[in-house]
Amino acid sequence: TIVPVILCGGSGTRLWPRSRASMPKPFLPLVGDNTLFEAALARCPASGGFAPPVVVTGRQHLAHVEAQLGAVEGAQVIVEPSARNTAAAIALAACRLPEDAVMLVCPSDHHIGNADAFAAVACAAADLAQEGWLVSFGIEATAPETGFGYLKRGEAISDTAFRTAQFVEKPDLERAKAFLAEGIYAWNGGIFAFRVKDFLAELAAHRPQIAAGVAEAVAKGSEDGQRFHPDGATFDAVPSDSVDYAVMENTARAAMVPADMNWSDIGNWHALYEALPADESGNSVRGAGEAELVDCRNVLVDSDGPRVSVIGLEDVIVVVDGDDIMITTVAGVQKVGKLSGAVNQ
Ligand code: GDD
Ligand code: MG
Repeated sequence: TIVPVILCGGSGTRLWPRSRASMPKPFLPLVGDNTLFEAALARCPASGGFAPPVVVTGRQHLAHVEAQLGAVEGAQVIVEPSARNTAAAIALAACRLPEDAVMLVCPSDHHIGNADAFAAVACAAADLAQEGWLVSFGIEATAPETGFGYLKRGEAISDTAFRTAQFVEKPDLERAKAFLAEGIYAWNGGIFAFRVKDFLAELAAHRPQIAAGVAEAVAKGSEDGQRFHPDGATFDAVPSDSVDYAVMENTARAAMVPADMNWSDIGNWHALYEALPADESGNSVRGAGEAELVDCRNVLVDSDGPRVSVIGLEDVIVVVDGDDIMITTVAGVQKVGKLSGAVNQ
C-alpha cells in the first residue's frame, strides 16, 4: 500500500485577499466545491489502494486540518512545533511509518484537473520507489518559471520512468530559459514517492543534522488520539531546508515519471484564472457576489458578497474579500504578495 503524506504549511500571500494567514490557500475552495486540501485527500482514497493519510501541519493550521479531514479511520496528524520546511516535515512522517512503507508526498496547495492520470502516475511512482528510487512527478515545462524545480530527463528506467540526470531547484531566469530551450527538462511537480528507509538514508547522508534531529524529536514525542506531537525543543533546533535542496539535488537515486494531469500550483491569481471555467469572452466569475461584465475580455471577478460591475477592461482581476478590494492586471499578479495588505495581515 501507499501512504499519502499531505504537507500543509506555507501562507499563500500571493492569493491575498482571499488567502490570509487565518485562512490560507489549502483550506479555500478555489476550484470547484472542495478545498485544495480536501481535493488532495480525495485523490488518495482507500478504494484506490491508499493507506490512511498522514497529515503534517503546524499548530496554526490544525483546526482547519481537523475540520476538513473529517473522520478518516487510521489517519494521523503530525503537529509541527515550528515550521522547519519540507525536509523535516517529510522526515517526521517517515519516522512514524514502517521502514518498508512507500510514502506519496503531496502538497496541499495544488490543483490537479485529471485525477485518473494522477492515480496512474502515482502507481508507477510507487512501484519505482519500491525498488529504491526517489521519485519526482515531472510536469511539462511551458515557461521559464523560476519558482519551480527542474528535472533533466536521463536514461529510461521503464516505459513510464526515467532517471533524473539533474535536479535544479529554483534556477535563475537565465538558466530556466536555457533549460526550456533544451527541451529535456520538466518542472518538478512537488509530489514525490519515497520508500521510508531510502528517504531517511539519503537524508542522513546529505543532511545528517536534520535526520538526527527529527528522529530524536519523534522518539521524545507524544501521542494524543490521532495527533502526534514531536518534542518541541528538539524539533525547533532542526535546520530548516526544503526536500528539494536537501535531498533531491544531491541523491544519486533520483527518478522521474512524466505526469500529464492538468497540474497547476495555483501560484498566483492568473494561474487560478486559468484553472477556472470561463465564458466565451474569457470572463470568469466566482464567489458569492454577483458580477456584471460589459465589453470585458479575460476578466476574473471573485467577490465574497458585494456586486462588482466592470466595463471595457481586458486581462484584469478583481477580488473582493471583507473590507479588502484588490484589482490587478494579469501582468501584475506576481506583486500581489508584496502589497502591504498581504504583508501586514
Ligand atoms: N507541514 C509543512 N511544514 N508543510 C510545508 C512546510 C513546512 O514547514 N513548508 C512548506 N510546506 C508545504 C507547502 O504548504 C506546500 O504544500 C509544499 O509543502 C511545498 O512547499 P512550497 O513552499 O510551496 O514549495 P515551493 O512551491 O517553493 O517549491 C516546491 O514545489 C514546486 C511545485 O509547486 C518544490 O518542490 C519545487 O521543486 C516545485 O517545482
Ligand atoms: Mg508551492
